[in-house]
Order: sequence, then structure tokens, then C-alpha cells
Amino acid sequence: MANQSEPLVVVDHVEKHYGDFHALKDVNLTVERGQVVVVIGPSGSGKSTLCRTINRLETITSGEIRIDGKVLPAEGKALANLRAEVGMVFQSFNLFAHKTILENVTLGPIKVRGVSKAEAEAEARKLLDRVGVGHQANKLPAQLSGGQQQRVAIARALAMRPKVMLFDEPTSALDPEMINEVLDVMVELAREGMTMVVVTHEMGFARKAADRVVFMADGQILEDETPEEFFTNPRTDRSKDFLSKLITH
Ligand SMILES: Nc1ncnc2c1ncn2[C@@H]1O[C@H](COP(=O)(O)OP(=O)(O)O)[C@@H](O)[C@H]1O
Ligand SMILES: [Mg+2]
Repeated sequence: MANQSEPLVVVDHVEKHYGDFHALKDVNLTVERGQVVVVIGPSGSGKSTLCRTINRLETITSGEIRIDGKVLPAEGKALANLRAEVGMVFQSFNLFAHKTILENVTLGPIKVRGVSKAEAEAEARKLLDRVGVGHQANKLPAQLSGGQQQRVAIARALAMRPKVMLFDEPTSALDPEMINEVLDVMVELAREGMTMVVVTHEMGFARKAADRVVFMADGQILEDETPEEFFTNPRTDRSKDFLSKLITH
């Protein structure tokens, strides 16, 4: 049962070590239902690690992560169920190369959600239409452009009916002319009320769609503000330095 008073995502005093390396240091983050949080920061600051811990692709050393009021289970069926509530889109699209676009999108619902093939296909076609690649349903991933493949990856994640979507630099591997077609889908998703955590350096997206910008450096969250506040009045030397480099490149 959903706990309406608790934020949808709560990252509570989370620490993560990779051996001797301290990758997340007392990270605290809450994401309310329908909120869009953009996470930015220099390479190696722990952004991907944070995303990966939120859907338990990585374990945490201590602290707690709750999705919709439920603590992330360590393993087993409970973990599979909870993980299905968290959609993830990576920089590399990770589509199955030998399956069609339609099969890529129906696989999860059929296997994990137990949906019939016919129902999964009907829903997949709607989602593919929504991200603008409905006419590509019978092709293989390699026959699509990078931007199209990433939009399929978004449709595939949505097919699981997640409560929250995590995006880890979804446009970083794309040619410049394809970035906007993916960002447009994400902006639309945000407008429709999807709860989203988005690691991106696309500041246009942050300004357009984000409720909050979280700035990370060295495994810590240094700032957590509105985009307006963050871009006009960054508070730390790290964020000032980071923003100045973004603007000059
Ligand atoms: N599996 C791993 N084993 C050891 N170190 C890792 C592993 N994954 C990430 N790291 C280290 O953790 C730090 C944060 O990485 P990451 O979360 O990928 O940063 P970002 O996404 O902000 O670039 C980096 O220094 C990286 O080298
Ligand atoms: Mg990363």
C-alpha cells in the first residue's frame, strides 16, 4: 500500500564504499511524487553510483533507501518487484540486439509483470507511438539511429509502469542532432507528471523541466536547490567552477 505522506524516493544517510574507495558520503535525497530532480556534477562524483543504488544495481554500505515507503529489499522476488517500480535509462541503450523493437518493449511486461503477449504488444505499440518510433516496431535495434534507440529504451522502461524513472546521462552517447528528440520525450514525460531523477549536463533540460537541481562532487551532495537558484546563485566554489566550465565549452 502506498504511503502518501512519505516522498516517493528517500535516500537516507547512504554510504557506499567500493573497497577502500568512498563513493557516496552521507547522501540524503528525497524526491516527491511528480518531481523532476536533475543531478549534475563532475565526472567521478558518484552520480551513476547514486542512480544504481536507487534501483539496487549496487548495494549500499549503510543507510537506507525507500521507494514509496518501502525499504529496498536485499534480494529475491521482493527486490525484483520493487525494482520493476524503478525504470532506468542508461547512456548506452542496452537493447537486445537480436530482438525486434517490439520484442524489446514487451519482454519485461510478459516475463516480470505476467501480462499476456497480446496485451503487452498493444501497450508497447502505444508507447512506441508516444516516443515517436511506432513505425519501427518490427526492426532490429541496429536499424535505428541512436536517438531512436534511446527513445525505445525509454518506452521499454515505461512498459514496466514504473513509479519513478532514473536517467543516467541519456543523451551523452548521442550525436548532437539527436539529443533534442530524446530530451523532448523526457520533457513531455515530466509534464505528464512522471517522477524523475535525471543525471544530465543538458542545462536546457534542467531549466525547462527540473523542480530541483542537485549538485554532487566527491561523493557528496553539495547543493540541492531550484534550477533558478542554482544557475543564478551557485553557492559553492565547486559548483561555480563546474558551471563556468560548462558554459565555456
Ligand atoms: N564498480 C566500481 N568499483 C570501484 N570503483 C568504482 C566502481 N564504480 C564506480 N567507481 C568509482 O566511484 C566513483 C564514482 O563513480 P560514478 O558514480 O560512476 O561517477 P559519475 O557517474 O559521477 O561520473 C569514481 O571514482 C569511480 O571510479
Ligand atoms: Mg556516470
